[in-house]
Amino acid sequence: MKLGVLATYRNFLPVTAKTPIFSLGEGDTPLVRCGKLEKEIGCGELYFKLEGCNPTGSFKDRGMVVAVAKALEAGSQTIMCASTGNTSASAAAYAAYCGLTAIIIVSKGNIAAGKLAQATIHGAKIVAIDGNFDQALRIVRSLTEKHPISLVNSVNPHRIEGQKTAAFEIIEALSDAPDHLFIPVGNAGNITAYWKGFVEYYQAGRASHKPKMMGFQAEGAAPIVRGHIIEQPQTIASAIRIGNPASWQRAVTARDESGGIIGIVSDEEIMSAQRLMATGAGVFGEPASAASFAGLIKMIQQGADFSSKKIVCVVTGNGLKDTDAVLQNTMPFLELPADFATVEQALGWS
Ligand code: F0G
Repeated sequence: MKLGVLATYRNFLPVTAKTPIFSLGEGDTPLVRCGKLEKEIGCGELYFKLEGCNPTGSFKDRGMVVAVAKALEAGSQTIMCASTGNTSASAAAYAAYCGLTAIIIVSKGNIAAGKLAQATIHGAKIVAIDGNFDQALRIVRSLTEKHPISLVNSVNPHRIEGQKTAAFEIIEALSDAPDHLFIPVGNAGNITAYWKGFVEYYQAGRASHKPKMMGFQAEGAAPIVRGHIIEQPQTIASAIRIGNPASWQRAVTARDESGGIIGIVSDEEIMSAQRLMATGAGVFGEPASAASFAGLIKMIQQGADFSSKKIVCVVTGNGLKDTDAVLQNTMPFLELPADFATVEQALGWS
């Protein structure tokens, strides 16, 4: 049985004698090396951290288990979040497991179908607003200040605590920190969490150095890179369609303290990285997830030299959550009658 994030890392988490310890099987996700892509794109060692292998298919579960445990400890009966999809799926699942009510606020028409299906099947109360994620988060923050409800967005510090455990796992798997960590940036909680995790394990003597944090935002939703709020963020990567990240400053700190960067990738670069990851490594990440690998490819194309570097790209969410983007951009398949000779001929074997 998997212990889960709370039991495995309790000494690094805000776990007290009163904190309930439970798990839906989050954490302990694979770190997969891809020699083929290493050669193809030209970097020393290339690893993908498969966060889509978490129980609800994204990294959110690591933070959610801690946030929900602390909400239970505080006597809360209801949790609430704004979401571009994955946080809501995770909140809904953990609320269901713990017998809590989950209320989620989403931007109408902007959530991938798989994620909405998750929130629905787990029984969350879903509110879709005529507005974007940033507006939804503002409403949720005000509501949870006014009413006795636990906020489980990453502005809740317990979320960051849980999510930092992915950095611990990377160091454990590699027996040290990588040279660079490539990661998508949306609301900027995850880059904040990874940096915290790398710093803590470094301070605990578990790593000889800390990685450079390489965050990537989508071109139409890149407030940190552009240095101002984006009122109408646009990108095919709906999970990171965010114009005013809650952890903006902390992402900048992670970038600067690590000597890393936060850069931009276009939707085309995201979709082509998603495809290369799928065809070259057998890894199917959702579009937002591919922003990390897209950033790596872009930097190499621009002349960066990673030929002797150990690189980890975080694949934040499972591609099965958002198949629309893929199917719209794929070559149509062959449609044939159910006839042996016709199929054989169409495949070029007769
Ligand atoms: N990748 C995926 C698949 C995500 O769902 C998110 C964020 C990110 C990357 C960016 O992480 O926000 O910590 O910088 N999704 C949030 C949500 C906003 O509501 O599910 P971040």
